[in-house]
Amino acid sequence: MTNPLYNKHIISISDLSRDELELIVATAHKLKREPQPELLRNKVVASCFFEASTRTRLSFETAVQRLGGSVIGFDTAGNTSLAQKGETLADSVKVISSYTDAFFMRHPKEGAARLASEFSAVPVINGGDGSNQHPTQTLLDLYTIYETQGTLEGLKVAFVGDLKYGRTVHSLAQALSLFNCEFYFISPDALSMPEYLCEELMDAGVKFTKVGTIEEVVAELDILYMTRVQKERFDPTEYQHMKSNYVLSASMLAEVKSTLKVLHPLPRVDEITNDVDSTQHAYYFEQAENGVYARQALLALVLSEQL
Ligand code: CP
Repeated sequence: MTNPLYNKHIISISDLSRDELELIVATAHKLKREPQPELLRNKVVASCFFEASTRTRLSFETAVQRLGGSVIGFDTAGNTSLAQKGETLADSVKVISSYTDAFFMRHPKEGAARLASEFSAVPVINGGDGSNQHPTQTLLDLYTIYETQGTLEGLKVAFVGDLKYGRTVHSLAQALSLFNCEFYFISPDALSMPEYLCEELMDAGVKFTKVGTIEEVVAELDILYMTRVQKERFDPTEYQHMKSNYVLSASMLAEVKSTLKVLHPLPRVDEITNDVDSTQHAYYFEQAENGVYARQALLALVLSEQL
């Protein structure tokens, strides 16, 4: 039977059904335990990064190579004909897709990956488009939540930090809304969850509450999902005043559930103090490692008709 993700573009997390998300999570779990070094043999995948990345690009490229495929591409747009000679994204995509079996891309503009998918002859995977979506981060987040909690169903999840521009938060809240989870949103007013997403969650009957500090809810949580408060968006006095509400230190984890996991898409700046790293709750580096398995799962499903 053909798997439902075969030959599909992966642009937004909302393009994926609950069954498809569960299939990717189960495949990632299997690939972590049983490596498949031949699965992408003779496949060529393009890695096109028009914006900076450490984890997304390197874990994608590792994923392809550990499955036996090859990678071509660029990690900065500066040397491409798009940047140097004024070629359009559409023409670049048509050409790149004629060389490859799939390509993944990151771009600073919202909607760039969707546009690329309209001109590509092969599946396009969105590695982040502006402040819009980061679906593969969500796939590794879901896998990590499943790995640590044994389920995705009915969890209490707090999102902390920049909920306005944080594309990882947008994608993850949409995905977890399919699994009857309850959310707490903890952010400065200026960086609260976009209205359109709150409306979407309300329409879907998802329970969510805006709270002022981590301490108010931390004892109830299964997952504490930290993100960076972006200092550059505030004047220094305002930033100093608000940031203490959004910094997690080990002492704040004294009364939490033993199974609570602290996640962060990384990079962190100063929103999780180093003393959290040695607690049983820190799981952000394992989460980053899971990026390889989640992206392997996605590539395997998109490129293998029978899996
Ligand atoms: N989490 C994440 O997307 O990291 P990079 O920006 O380093 O890819």
